[in-house]
Amino acid sequence: MSDTLQVERDGSVMEITFNRPEKKNALTREMYNGVVAAFEQADSDPTIRAILLTGAGDTFTSGNDIRDFQARASGNEPRDGSPFLTALSTLKKPLVGAVNGAAIGVGTTMLAHCDLIIAARSARFVMPFTSLGLVPEAGSSLLFPRLVGLQRANALLLLGEALDAATALDWGFVNKVVDDAALMDTARAFAHRLAALPPQAVRLTKQLVRQGSQDLTPRIEEELAIFRQRVRSPEAGEAFAAFVEKRKPDFSRFE
Ligand code: COA
Repeated sequence: MSDTLQVERDGSVMEITFNRPEKKNALTREMYNGVVAAFEQADSDPTIRAILLTGAGDTFTSGNDIRDFQARASGNEPRDGSPFLTALSTLKKPLVGAVNGAAIGVGTTMLAHCDLIIAARSARFVMPFTSLGLVPEAGSSLLFPRLVGLQRANALLLLGEALDAATALDWGFVNKVVDDAALMDTARAFAHRLAALPPQAVRLTKQLVRQGSQDLTPRIEEELAIFRQRVRSPEAGEAFAAFVEKRKPDFSRFE
């Protein structure tokens, strides 16, 4: 396992930690692959009863690595689906998100696939897809209107407005908000509660609760097809360059 992703066992709970704090846990291909391998291991190992997902340092994750987006825009994009999104949306074991600081882009959209979410007071959820010239992914265009309502979803997905921890609790997006120092103890307690329950009952309940989302897989694929075109678009190119050059993007020349 690479240093940028930690996978540990705490009894019957698997803990996965994004561990690239100097880059605010921006996600690289290697990190996505590590999560896919960890999910596969969790689903095939009967002694793992729950999974906890968190980020090291002061950020949950700042989302996809923007330099990777730039590299993808100039290289050959694989045409098959995203193994990470498939693994995330088909995971059988219960997944608990422990969110510290910013959760940006896929950092927030992956949370819509968690079964329970515990947020630190510092948590902040942002999906700045449009300002990056991109579109929502991970089924978020379907899941967020259902989770929080259409107008709130528009504020998050169209405007890219940030959602703070208190509002996320009020909107029912997270289960609990705690002081930052209490985040991991609280999230671990929830994961261990899940792990102590009869495993088949938990798996079947997760499956039933998620069955309202049978349209999820086609939506993820539809989003992905558009997303991949957008990563190569001039609008996204300007947004990525502005991020790397630490300047404001200028979209005035686009029609
Ligand atoms: N991709 C690549 N690098 C990233 C990154 C990302 N998504 N997020 C942060 N980093 C890097 C920064 O470039 C910086 O690198 P440097 O030290 O080599 O310059 C380092 O991480 C620290 O980030 P910085 O911006 O200086 O920290 P901050 O505390 O001022 O802001 C964030 C933190 C997360 C709010 C800010 O970095 C940010 O907005 N990141 C981009 C988020 C984003 O748009 N993600 C894509 C969603 S689709």
